[in-house]
Amino acid sequence: MAALIWQQHASGVWRGTIGEPSVLSPVSWMNREPKYEALHQLGDMPLPFSMEELRLDYVGAMPILSFPLTEQEAIYGMGLQFARMNQRGRTRFLRVNSDPKQDTGETHAPVPFFVSDRGYGVLIDTSRVPTVYCGSTVHIDDNGPEAARDRNTDKAWRATPLSSRMEVRLPEEGATVYLFSGPTVVDVVKRYNLFCGGGTLPPRWGLGFWHRVPKLYSDKMTLAEAREFRERAIPCDVIGLEPGWHSRSYPVTYEWSEERFPDPSEFVSSMEQLGFRINLWEHPYISPDASIFEAMKPLSGSHTVWGGLAPDYTLKAAQELYMNQHIEQHASIGVSGYKLDECDGSELTNHSWMFPAHATFPSGADGEQMRQMYGLLFQKMTSDLYRKHNRRTYGLVRASNAAASTLPYVLYSDLYDHKQFIRALSNASFSGILWTPEVRKADNSEEWVRRMQSVCFSPMAMLNAWGDGTKPWSFPEVEPIIRHYIELRMRLLPYFYTAFARYRFEGLPPFRAMPLAFETADQYRKAASKTGFDHGEVLNTTDAAYGKQRIKEWDDQFLIGDDLLVAPMFSGEQGRDVLLPPGGWYGFETGIRYEGDQVVHVQAPLELIPIFVREGAVIPMMPVRQHAPNGTERTPLEWLHFGNVPGRGMLFDDDGESFDYERGKHIWQYAEVTVDEQGDLLFEMKEQAGAADAVSSYSSVTWRLGLKSIN
Ligand code: GAL
Repeated sequence: MAALIWQQHASGVWRGTIGEPSVLSPVSWMNREPKYEALHQLGDMPLPFSMEELRLDYVGAMPILSFPLTEQEAIYGMGLQFARMNQRGRTRFLRVNSDPKQDTGETHAPVPFFVSDRGYGVLIDTSRVPTVYCGSTVHIDDNGPEAARDRNTDKAWRATPLSSRMEVRLPEEGATVYLFSGPTVVDVVKRYNLFCGGGTLPPRWGLGFWHRVPKLYSDKMTLAEAREFRERAIPCDVIGLEPGWHSRSYPVTYEWSEERFPDPSEFVSSMEQLGFRINLWEHPYISPDASIFEAMKPLSGSHTVWGGLAPDYTLKAAQELYMNQHIEQHASIGVSGYKLDECDGSELTNHSWMFPAHATFPSGADGEQMRQMYGLLFQKMTSDLYRKHNRRTYGLVRASNAAASTLPYVLYSDLYDHKQFIRALSNASFSGILWTPEVRKADNSEEWVRRMQSVCFSPMAMLNAWGDGTKPWSFPEVEPIIRHYIELRMRLLPYFYTAFARYRFEGLPPFRAMPLAFETADQYRKAASKTGFDHGEVLNTTDAAYGKQRIKEWDDQFLIGDDLLVAPMFSGEQGRDVLLPPGGWYGFETGIRYEGDQVVHVQAPLELIPIFVREGAVIPMMPVRQHAPNGTERTPLEWLHFGNVPGRGMLFDDDGESFDYERGKHIWQYAEVTVDEQGDLLFEMKEQAGAADAVSSYSSVTWRLGLKSIN
């Protein structure tokens, strides 16, 4: 066993370096200053075990780091996992993969950060592929409780016997490892995000509705579609262009097609006048027809993709070529951001298109490292590009890695399973990444409604019609329901925006998986096993993670901010079980009161997605608008209070578009509801001191009781 020295890096954060890791790694590449002050405020909490319980062994040149595991312990995180939330008992091979159909750990964003519900987290900072054995291996010296069993006669036989160690196989060169303390699971996640520089705060318009038009659309077709949104009064903030806006695609030029977009600047400003931002689809591979091709060639890798260059964006010169071209042709005429596609290839997918792991790059990085890092490189480069001009961007990306919480990007996939999409949304919250359950098409109007309802309560409310040409009104019989939920998304914009501001400053994820909604793992387990109705079979919380019957993981519902809980419905279902955290809860649109700390069953006709609001919550809302207010527009503010108990709500406000909020130009406001001796509710709005020059987005304030219907 080798000695491993852990050094304290910040409050509740320790660092240990194993071997001689490559300088190219997510944390060093992102190079964000940790939010030391906010980390300090979380307290200098200890880890739930002593450092002596960690082991570092070498098998040949390969370092194996291992951690103690208790019998009940759940392991969450490791990025955008689609197949399960609790990874206990599984081996996670954390390689970037564009087609993550198998439950191997490979995915678009295989973040090597895991969170144990004992209240600690581990980040493996590497540009290589680590393997994490989440109690899926049993060492011969393991003195855990599991004995060998006879499969034929013993019902307790398990394919993956219980293990008392969690092993991490590190790359041969080693890695820098960070440990994060809790005490709670949500504290671990906050610490990780704060260590990575805090969360991202999107521009306000990014939280409106998004629509991507079909490939090969021209300027006229796009403008006509934009006008139709306005005529039908379906709110929309962003229109995305798909392949066809470039002069060449697969590989791309990053230059406008003269045929379809003869006057890009005029096009972008006409869209702006209608209140739409433009987002551009692109991928990393540069066409021989691109004007930057020749200059980029010596700065690119040994292998091409679709005949295009795969640039080495760890090089300053390559970054500058890309950025200058993008500023000149896109950002300077008002383009709001990008969809960074296909930066997630690897071997062994259905279509073999990516450069191999043995590709070489001028900086000395190899193909494996470049593939693991590509998503981060593009996200950082493009967000820096906008930051330089004091504008915020918000966009899409198909690959990511660790240390990504400050990046204004949302992940998406070509997969299309609604349940997996909601699970991915929940799982993303453990790893400092965001995910959209984008809607593309549906077999019938019921599925259309259920998918649209979910996407409206996600980090990016987007219809991606690139291949199917669908519109929000594609199923006319349910158009009113679709409009209602897009409108509700718009009305909740102040609430969503505030949830993101807390992500930015406190590291608290705006969307949260259920284990992040409880104080302790025990409370979570207990509540999950209590039902307010007769329905016991799936709620067995004894440790069945290894057994044939899997326990129900509450990965099909999530919190938004502190006070809203969303329980999506899936096609074919009329009702569902919902796990409610402690306290009282109200149906946001029904006004029905539920007692929390248990599982309840709700019916949800097609026109309803079950949303619950915490008793006492005060939710900031605004009237329906066709697009988000820009930096100078003002809109009325409405606070909705739920229940007859005292409560408090928060509101973050700034210009919604620039980085001036980082220089003090922002304001936090608090809604206080108290109950007087007669039992009457008293409302009061308080302001944080010292933000006198902050912009106010709101013209008037009203209060409402949110019971019954919010309409
Ligand atoms: C895919 C992407 C789709 C769409 C398409 C265009 O890679 O996931 O959303 O953009 O490319 O060719």
